[in-house]
Amino acid sequence: VSNPIHDNHGRPITYVRLSVTDRCNLRCFYCMPEKGMKFLPKKELLSYEEMERLLSILAELGIVKVRITGGEPFVRKDLASFLANIRKITGIEELHITTNGVLTKPYVEKLSQLGITSVNLSLDTVDRQRFKMLTRRDEFNQVMETFHALLDHNIPTKINAVVIEGKNEQDIIPLAELARNYPVSVRFIEEMPFNGSGGGYQSLQWDYHKILNTLKTRFPEITKIADKPHATAMHYKVPGFKGNLGIIAAYSRTFCGSCNRIRITSQGVLQTCLYDEGTLNIKDFIRTGASDEAIKDLFIGAFGQRAKDGFEAEKKGPASAIHKSMSIIGG
Ligand code: GTP
Ligand code: 5AD
Ligand code: SF4
Repeated sequence: VSNPIHDNHGRPITYVRLSVTDRCNLRCFYCMPEKGMKFLPKKELLSYEEMERLLSILAELGIVKVRITGGEPFVRKDLASFLANIRKITGIEELHITTNGVLTKPYVEKLSQLGITSVNLSLDTVDRQRFKMLTRRDEFNQVMETFHALLDHNIPTKINAVVIEGKNEQDIIPLAELARNYPVSVRFIEEMPFNGSGGGYQSLQWDYHKILNTLKTRFPEITKIADKPHATAMHYKVPGFKGNLGIIAAYSRTFCGSCNRIRITSQGVLQTCLYDEGTLNIKDFIRTGASDEAIKDLFIGAFGQRAKDGFEAEKKGPASAIHKSMSIIGG
């Protein structure tokens, strides 16, 4: 569809982030507490059939890009077949996935065959011990094997690294060095208050400027390069690097003005903004036996009531607001 739906602030909606599970095999401390996570029973999740139906409807409304998120998407059984089915939906031109890489390696061949557009791999450190400290699991080697398998299959790959004071600032340069040797985009992310534990978010230490200054000190020839429209990251090039570097100012800047994305959480709830608490429960609606037309109207209605600047509202709210775990929303 060349003519996507525009929201009530004139922004085209072309990108959906779909969380297929709230479960994860890691416990990154900035995302989930170690103990006490309650996960949804399977019937509370959208089935693959329900998700395929929703994506077909969204494609008719002008969505061209899908990103599969979690939790960890590969924790859900038979994910690869689901991805292959998404590939068959008319209008969905891009299919991306964000994964922690622990279970991903055996599926890389299949991802390549089905024509995945790109893979974002979460990796906050180059050190096995620090990986264990950050994620509370000893799975570093599996993730690195996934990384190399992705490159061997020429799948466009980005690394996501959340930078946190006292935990992994020493990894900034070694992670950036990966872009010297490999054609990857290494993206450093500001920590957001989405750790699911209702507390423990210190004020942001590693903001965009501090990350950039650290990179500049080590790579004085770093230069800004153009960003694609709607990109969350600001991109940089270092002479001689095969890949590039990015910084995602997820907390100190706003992308609201050009926001083209909606989210469907693992619970089947539509979020038209990262910071809203869920606009409507689509899962319950489709389980009432709703027709495609009725679902379409529901989406159109929700797109017409989007927050203009959820991020600004967030900043004006209580400073201590800690959101639910990123594993439910999918980032
Ligand atoms: P692409 O632009 O397609 O590469 O996706 P992405 O970088 O937005 O997605 P990814 O899942 O790799 O997320 C990278 C980081 O950006 C995570 O920390 C997300 O939580 C964050 N992020 C994604 N969307 C938004 C958003 O709308 N607002 C903010 N503030 N952060 C976001
Ligand atoms: N702040 C910033 N990024 C986060 N992610 C998970 N939790 C947070 C947080 N609190 C990132 C993961 C993954 C992406 C989907 O979101 O590292 O790469
Ligand atoms: Fe799992 Fe990703 Fe959350 Fe880490 S950030 S616990 S890998 S969902």
